[in-house]
Amino acid sequence: MKHYIALALAAPVLVSAQQSMWGQCGGIGWNGPTNCNAPASCSTLNPYYAQCLTDWNNPATSTTTSRTTTPVTTTTTTTSSRTTTTTTTTSRTTTTTTTTTTTRTTTSVPQGTGLNAAIRSKGKKYFGFCSDSNLINNGDNQAILKAEAGQLTGENSMKWESIQPNQGSYSWSGADTLVNFALNNNMIVRGHTFVWHQQIPQWLKNINNKQTLTSAIQSHIAAVAGRYKGKIYAWDVANEVFEDNGSRRSSVFSNVFNDWTFLDVAFNAAKAADPDAKLCLNDYNLDYSSSKLTNFVQLVKDLKSRNVPIDCVGTQSHLVVGNGAIPSYKSTLDSLATTNTEVQITELDIRTSSSPSQQQMNQQVTDYKTVATACMRTSSCSGITIWGVSDRDSWVPGVFNGEGYALLWDNNYRKKSAYQGFLDGINS
Ligand SMILES: *[C@@H]1O[C@H](CO)[C@@H](O)[C@H](O)[C@H]1NC(C)=O
Repeated sequence: MKHYIALALAAPVLVSAQQSMWGQCGGIGWNGPTNCNAPASCSTLNPYYAQCLTDWNNPATSTTTSRTTTPVTTTTTTTSSRTTTTTTTTSRTTTTTTTTTTTRTTTSVPQGTGLNAAIRSKGKKYFGFCSDSNLINNGDNQAILKAEAGQLTGENSMKWESIQPNQGSYSWSGADTLVNFALNNNMIVRGHTFVWHQQIPQWLKNINNKQTLTSAIQSHIAAVAGRYKGKIYAWDVANEVFEDNGSRRSSVFSNVFNDWTFLDVAFNAAKAADPDAKLCLNDYNLDYSSSKLTNFVQLVKDLKSRNVPIDCVGTQSHLVVGNGAIPSYKSTLDSLATTNTEVQITELDIRTSSSPSQQQMNQQVTDYKTVATACMRTSSCSGITIWGVSDRDSWVPGVFNGEGYALLWDNNYRKKSAYQGFLDGINS
C-alpha cells in the first residue's frame, strides 16, 4: 500500500485525470489518463493506442435503439430545407485554454479568406481539416475552421464503430453535428469511412459467412450514405486495404471474401445510396512503400475494368519532416493520377519531434510547401485535407511516442511558420 500511495503522490495528475471522448487512454509508452469521462470507455485499438470511445455495451448509457449518447448534448429542429443543429457543450474540461479563448474567438471572421480561398483561386476544389463535435465546439478551433476551411472530414464520428455500434442501432448525433456545421458554413464534407479493419464493432468482426457480411456491408452503407445523400462530396468507401508490403490486408472483409470483391459490394452499395458522391479508395504510406503504391494503383485499375464505381483515390499522407518520401511526393501523385480518378490528399500531417529543433521547424516549412506545390502541379489533385488544426489536438503524440508538432497551428492555436510554407506552395 505504501508503494501505491507513493506512486499516487508522485503523479497526482495521472491518477485523477479523466480523458475525454476520442482522447488517448492507453498504449505502450502512454503515461496519461487511462480512465475516460462517461459515456466513453477505454477501447484498445492496437498495442500502441487505446482511445476513449462510446461504450455501447454499457446498459447505463445505451438503452434505446437509436443511440444518441455522446458527450455533447444536441437539440435538433427541422426546417424545410435543412436540419439545423444547436449544440451545447456539457462539462468540458478546458482549463488551460481560457486565456486564449477571449482573444481568439471572433465571430466576425469572414469565411473562406484563408487557405480554402487561396487554393480555390488557383483552380483546386477545396482545402479542409478533419474535425468532430468536440473540436467544432471549441471556440479557438471553430474560428480557424471558419476562417480557413472549405471542407471537413469526420475524424471519428462516421467510423463504423461510432455510427452502428450494435447491429441495426445507429448513432447519428456526432456525424449530424459535423455535417450540419459544415453545410451551415459553406463547407463540403468528405465521408470517412465504411470498409476499414479498425474501429469496427465486435458484432461485425464476428461474421464469418460471405452472405451475412455482404448484407451487413450493404445495409450499413445504405443507411449511412442514404442519410447524408446529397450532402457528401466524397466517401472513403474503403480505407487501408493494403499491408505496407503491398499484400491484401487481413480483415474480416478480406478474410471472409478471400478476394477483393468485398470492394465491389461496398462501392456498388455506396453508388446506389448516393449516386452523386465521389467514391474513393483511401490508404496511407503510398508515399513510402513502392509495392503498396504499385498494387494500390493496379487495384483501382482492376476495379474500373470490372465497372466498379470508383471516382477518386485518397492518399492519407501522414508524413515525417525531412523524410525522403517528401521530395518524391510529386511522383507519388503522378502514379496515383494514372488511375484516371480524382486524387485527394486526405489526412496530411508532417510530424517531427514533439520538441523540434530550429532546423526541424525550418524543414517542416519546406516540406509543407513541397506537398502543396505537388498538388498544385498535378491537375487531377483536387484538394487537400490536413488531419487537424492544432498540435494540441493531433493524433500524432498519442500514437508516436515523443513525436508531434505535425500541424499548421501550435498548441495554443497560433499559426506556425509551416502555415506560410503551405500557403507559399499553394501560390507557387
Ligand atoms: C506482408 O505483410 C503481412 C503483415 O505483416 C504479412 O502477414 C504477409 O505475410 C506479408 N506478405 C509478404 C508477401 O511478405
